Amino acid sequence: MKSFLGIFSFVIIGLLTAWFIGFSTELTAGSKPVDEEQNGFKQRVIIKFSHVVAENTPKGLAAEKFAQLVKEKTNDQVEVQVFPNGILYSDKEEFKALARGDIQMIAPAFSNLSNVIPEWLAFDLPFAYPDQNTIHRVFDGEIGKVLFQTLEQKNMQGLAFWSNGFKQMSSNQHPLLRPADFTGHTFRILPSKALESQFKLLGAKTVAMPFTEVYHNIESGYVNGQENTISNIFTKHLYQVQPYITISNHGYLGYAVIVNKDFWEKLEPHTRDLLTEALLETTAWNRQQAIEMDKQQLALLRRKKSVFIQTLTPAQKETWIRVLQPIYKQFEAPIGKELMQKIADLQVQK
Ligand code: LMR
Repeated sequence: MKSFLGIFSFVIIGLLTAWFIGFSTELTAGSKPVDEEQNGFKQRVIIKFSHVVAENTPKGLAAEKFAQLVKEKTNDQVEVQVFPNGILYSDKEEFKALARGDIQMIAPAFSNLSNVIPEWLAFDLPFAYPDQNTIHRVFDGEIGKVLFQTLEQKNMQGLAFWSNGFKQMSSNQHPLLRPADFTGHTFRILPSKALESQFKLLGAKTVAMPFTEVYHNIESGYVNGQENTISNIFTKHLYQVQPYITISNHGYLGYAVIVNKDFWEKLEPHTRDLLTEALLETTAWNRQQAIEMDKQQLALLRRKKSVFIQTLTPAQKETWIRVLQPIYKQFEAPIGKELMQKIADLQVQK
């Protein structure tokens, strides 16, 4: 009996072992498709695109359009994840995040770049760019090329220029039409030495702060003036706390679409080509969109009873130009003589 039980348990253990080996082989075989899937997943490229404005702005819409085009063109092998409204990083933090590789794409306003690379102060020269056509020529021409070259020293690669619009002045005190109207104001500015100078020459104080903090600081009374495009004033409801708006078109707010250079160079050449193609299409679309939005949102603002909009008269504009002229001499050295000459030539060509 004992030996029978011994043989019986031996057989049972053998059967169980055989079953277990078979089961684990099946497990390994079964994991094959999963492995393949994971390999495929690895090959997918994720581009985290961080920006600070609302989704229904020229930059917000362009970022979404770009993401959609990339999805289509790459057959979903590249995914652009857009993070608007500064939910990931403020415009102050995004350069470091890009350098670390935490995000792969940003589109900062030019003035933010001027804080890192002085040549970008070129876009903060007052009244240097008379109209949208000139701006587009700047983006597509020598000035744009020279400025993109400056990014390489910081391991960044410029891929496109996106448009927003001309900047307008606003205040919660009274209309800003003569330089004397700026007295007693503290303006929120982007971190640009030229913008600091601009307001000093107009007789106002300045505080630099990220876009995400603007509304709150106006509401609390810490600052009482700011300059921005119609789309930013409209979508961030700045008009609610800045009812006096002057259409001055004194400066241009646009964006450089930038990637981390190492990241860009490591991409497959074919992927880079598809991304470049998507960017070209997005940029052409963004130019039209920015002009349209500016018009539409200005019309909406004009309809608001609590918002007071005035446009500088030609004589008032001449006064501003004269008062702000010293900025050109002051920033000639950091911007560079060559770029300054190209900007001066624009006035002749217009
Ligand atoms: C601002 O900070 O006022 C703008 O640069 C925001 C933006 O990116 O348009």
